[in-house]
Amino acid sequence: MRATRAGSFGANAATYAEHRPDYPAEAVEWVIGDRTRVLDLGAGTGKLTERLLDLGVDVTAVEPDPQMRAELTRRLPDVPTMDGRAERIPLRDASVDAVVAGQSFHWFNNPEALAEITRVLRPGGVFGALWIADDDRVPWVRTLVELTASSVGDPARRRERHVPEHDLLGDAEAKDFKHQQVRTVDSMVESLRTYSHIAVAPEAERAEILARAREYLSGLPDSRGVFVRPLICEAIRAIRI
Ligand SMILES: C[S@@+](CC[C@H](N)C(=O)[O-])C[C@H]1O[C@@H](n2cnc3c(N)ncnc32)[C@H](O)[C@@H]1O
Repeated sequence: MRATRAGSFGANAATYAEHRPDYPAEAVEWVIGDRTRVLDLGAGTGKLTERLLDLGVDVTAVEPDPQMRAELTRRLPDVPTMDGRAERIPLRDASVDAVVAGQSFHWFNNPEALAEITRVLRPGGVFGALWIADDDRVPWVRTLVELTASSVGDPARRRERHVPEHDLLGDAEAKDFKHQQVRTVDSMVESLRTYSHIAVAPEAERAEILARAREYLSGLPDSRGVFVRPLICEAIRAIRI
């Protein structure tokens, strides 16, 4: 099931690109510092890539799913984009200053992926992983998360469970950044559709979850028209020794 979920995103690539949240610039800056040659690993449709470009760095994108890659190339045609996986990165040894994984580190197979990440990083470079999670300290968000759990699993793949550990990486540091996404009931339902635990659920169950979410959101006083979805960007960084 893990492999099915890891490969589930391409079927919804355009919806993913339109409806998943972006990344807060300050989190990305905190991860990469002043490093300039950056590999975006598991780049998907380029959400994190776009933020990296805003910071003026040179980005190479590596992504195994052809539909996600096609969407990235359509949106960001000037970014060098390669077919590849974290366990076999198509770059030379010590060729980048930073490797970042946005919402993707939990899908990598370790220790193979960390051996590859530390191979392509120069000493003094950084590995960073970022996750955008619903801020479930907010009561209505917590209820929505509970209502949209599926028989397949849960949505949040948080860093507590996915800290990078490798002989060639220093201790990981962690930091949270407040973030948000402006949504309507319709666009929130489209966002939910792209999460793997919902995407790979049996069709009838998926329809039921999305209908339940729509009903719940429609009944919230704050959700008439446009509302703010509270998010947390959880970031970790570890220096290549
Ligand atoms: C949730 S999406 C995140 C995409 C993008 N980084 C973002 O922030 O929107 C996870 C991505 O990881 C990719 N992926 C899954 N397994 C991978 C692996 N072993 N190596 C590299 N990428 C992988 C998927 O194809 C998918 O595009």
